[in-house]
Amino acid sequence: MSTTSLGTWWVLVTGASRGLGAAICEGLGPLLGPGSVLLGVARSKEGLDTTAAKVKALNSNIKVITEAVDLSTILKEDLEGILKASFDPGQSPPPTRAVIFHNAASLENLTYLKQMKDASKLTPYFHFNVSSVISLNAVFMDHVSHLCNGSITVVNISSLCAVEPMKSWGLYCSAKAARDMVFRVMAVEEPKIRVLNYAPGPLDNEMQVVARSLTEDEEVKSAFQSMKTDGKLLNCSQSVVKLLDVLQKDEYKSGDHVDYYD
Ligand SMILES: NC(=O)c1ccc[n+]([C@@H]2O[C@H](COP(=O)([O-])OP(=O)(O)OC[C@H]3O[C@@H](n4cnc5c(N)ncnc54)[C@H](OP(=O)(O)O)[C@@H]3O)[C@@H](O)[C@H]2O)c1
Repeated sequence: MSTTSLGTWWVLVTGASRGLGAAICEGLGPLLGPGSVLLGVARSKEGLDTTAAKVKALNSNIKVITEAVDLSTILKEDLEGILKASFDPGQSPPPTRAVIFHNAASLENLTYLKQMKDASKLTPYFHFNVSSVISLNAVFMDHVSHLCNGSITVVNISSLCAVEPMKSWGLYCSAKAARDMVFRVMAVEEPKIRVLNYAPGPLDNEMQVVARSLTEDEEVKSAFQSMKTDGKLLNCSQSVVKLLDVLQKDEYKSGDHVDYYD
């Protein structure tokens, strides 16, 4: 990606406290022009503070804001309050682009579908990984609705699991597939908004530690362990370079699923 300024952007990154979300902030932060606002949310204040300090050291001309929130329980009114306090609709000059990265996600129950008899235990998973994404997206869209539609970009961090089934990963695969479809629908509902489903590749981070240790299916677990021992995992920053390149080239069809390896 070019090192030239991208202009004055409003950016919201979920899951900015670690992993890919932190890397998106650190990769994008230096490219944002003066007057830009980067808002990172996650539960860990400590993680968010670390990300914010790194971004501020890379670009002192932008405003970096963090909010420690639990996206699985936050109310619509609180989301609206955070956006109102972070992104001033009266800002002059106005931002040239508003971008939301729906990055936060969880693995949780990596067991077989035949064990999932209690629907009430599944609801919180889908609430956080799908419903809260739809809700935050709608709140964000409403807040940036005064901007020209053509200057709004929505990025859903997807996965190979959105398109490939994996044994004992039924919840994650189905939530990722659902999220992809949500944003494919959005792409046809809002033809002027740029919508990207980006699968970042296998990343050498905490989520992979969970995958290697808690996956019930032995074949899948051993495939994750081999990826680590064979050095096949990517650094988060490596994947972010590709993501930012895809965004800047702007050649994808809105709603497409683009993989790191494409
Ligand atoms: N790791 C991989 O190999 C891989 C591969 C393909 C796709 N992905 C996707 O990449 C994205 C980033 O994952 P990652 O690998 O960076 O995972 P990660 O290291 O587990 O990070 C997940 C992020 O989500 C946040 N989060 C989790 N629960 C939250 C909640 N209830 N409210 C608010 N924030 C919450 C976490 O912060 P707090 O704990 O501070 O809240 C953290 O910042 C995900 O969408 C994942 O599905 C990852």
